[in-house]
Amino acid sequence: MRRPMVAGNWKMHGTRASVAELLKGLGSEALPGGVDVVVFPPSLHVERVIDGLQGASIEVGAQNCATQTGQGALTGEISSTQLADAGCKLVLVGHSERRQVIGESDEVLVRKFEAAQAGGLIPVLCIGETLAEREAGKTLEVVGRQLSSVIDALGIGAFARAVIAYEPVWAIGTGLTATPEQAQDVHAAIRAQLAVENSEVAQGVRLLYGGSVKAANAAELFGMPDIDGGLIGGASLNADEFGAICRAAGN
Ligand code: PGA
Repeated sequence: MRRPMVAGNWKMHGTRASVAELLKGLGSEALPGGVDVVVFPPSLHVERVIDGLQGASIEVGAQNCATQTGQGALTGEISSTQLADAGCKLVLVGHSERRQVIGESDEVLVRKFEAAQAGGLIPVLCIGETLAEREAGKTLEVVGRQLSSVIDALGIGAFARAVIAYEPVWAIGTGLTATPEQAQDVHAAIRAQLAVENSEVAQGVRLLYGGSVKAANAAELFGMPDIDGGLIGGASLNADEFGAICRAAGN
């Protein structure tokens, strides 16, 4: 049995005041014991959030890491080693906003994935198709290629210590959610692609769905056999809403 995970991606949100408010809210949520709950604040707030969540059984991750580990001359970047030293456990790799807006390529993301693990973090590899790609019938091809870039470079073994998030780009922040069936189809294809290499790794890896997940639609998504939880953007900024999504994953 895979343990469900619900991860909150705060993106570029949060002031000191709003983060304090959110931490207070999260601290008073009843979270289910059988679910791994993680939040990904902006790096600026990581230490504050780790301090504020002491004793709350919520892990903290970062939204990005450098392509290199350790320390060095790389202005503006933060390494996985530094994030792990601060108390982070996971890191997002390849969120569509970073692929599309920042221009991160599969090649760069492979290096970040590798650096994440080398620095002691669990990478959450985000993959997903655009609306044009879906409409052209290319969803599985695009997602398959994004996944292959990591498998080919690092080997299937890399997924023994990783999480995958399927996030259709057209569903992120749009209020449009993939139907449970649409999401399940892609999740099953991802797992099948991993299984070609190693069935044990394929069965063990957690596949999260992301894209306009909210309390109202979480339960039906999480009820699908290959959906092991969610990566939540907008709704993770509201403690009650996020708590309700975590509880949906626990049922
Ligand atoms: P959303 O974002 O829940 O606001 O659609 C999801 C994500 O980008 O991780």
